[in-house]
Amino acid sequence: MKILVFNGSPKREKSDTMCITRAFLAGMEAAGVQEVKVITAVDQHVEYCTGCFACMHNGGTCIYDDDMKGILEEILRSDLLIFSFPLYCYGMPAPLKAIIDRILPLSKMTMEKVGDRYEHVGQADYSHLKYLMICGCGFPNSRQNFEPAVSQFKLLFPCDHTIITVPESPMFNAPEAAVVTGPRLELVKEAGRQYAEDGVIAPELLSAICSPMIPEEVYARIVNGQA
Ligand SMILES: Cc1cc2nc3c(=O)[nH]c(=O)nc-3n(C[C@H](O)[C@H](O)[C@H](O)COP(=O)(O)O)c2cc1C
Repeated sequence: MKILVFNGSPKREKSDTMCITRAFLAGMEAAGVQEVKVITAVDQHVEYCTGCFACMHNGGTCIYDDDMKGILEEILRSDLLIFSFPLYCYGMPAPLKAIIDRILPLSKMTMEKVGDRYEHVGQADYSHLKYLMICGCGFPNSRQNFEPAVSQFKLLFPCDHTIITVPESPMFNAPEAAVVTGPRLELVKEAGRQYAEDGVIAPELLSAICSPMIPEEVYARIVNGQA
């Protein structure tokens, strides 16, 4: 299985969210997965999509000749796309969104009705692809926080998606929080192993991973310097 990871954090390797993603990958690697490539969104030269739709009419060639050409080739060579990003203003950070917009050449202008909505028809059959979203955030609450990013991801990748959202994620880079982040990362590693072996994560495990690590009032007091 070839895995392509998009690190959407402008903090690159120092990303809180990448702590979660690295634990997930460690679990997958323990289950035998070997081919992992990481693309750091903020380091790519990716022009903004201008919305000219040339790519959709001409068989998939963008007017820009930039890093997106290689990224699209990597996507087509992959079996699993992992989007690792921090929640920014209830969505994904701009460098990653720029890449997502530029995935347009993989679709044709032709629309088809799927269920009760319309989708563009693909330039090819991408049904072998699976999609995983790993999203960290700074607030302790998941509700009224992650929903826009989760909805967007489900609409972008309606088939074969798995979504991991973890609140209080700055704790992953706080050594003093290791007593709670260590066990959480072990759960994430187990999720990676399950996903590599079965293609799914047990619902109870997923729910435990997505829950706050410490009570939200305690977290807020620590962040506010009142602890
Ligand atoms: C511009 C900006 C917008 C943010 N928006 C949100 C938000 O909507 N909800 C939230 O819980 N945290 C928000 N955060 C906090 C980050 O998600 C949090 O610090 C996260 O741990 C950063 O992860 P990273 O280290 O992987 O980049 C925001 C941070 C920044 C810099």
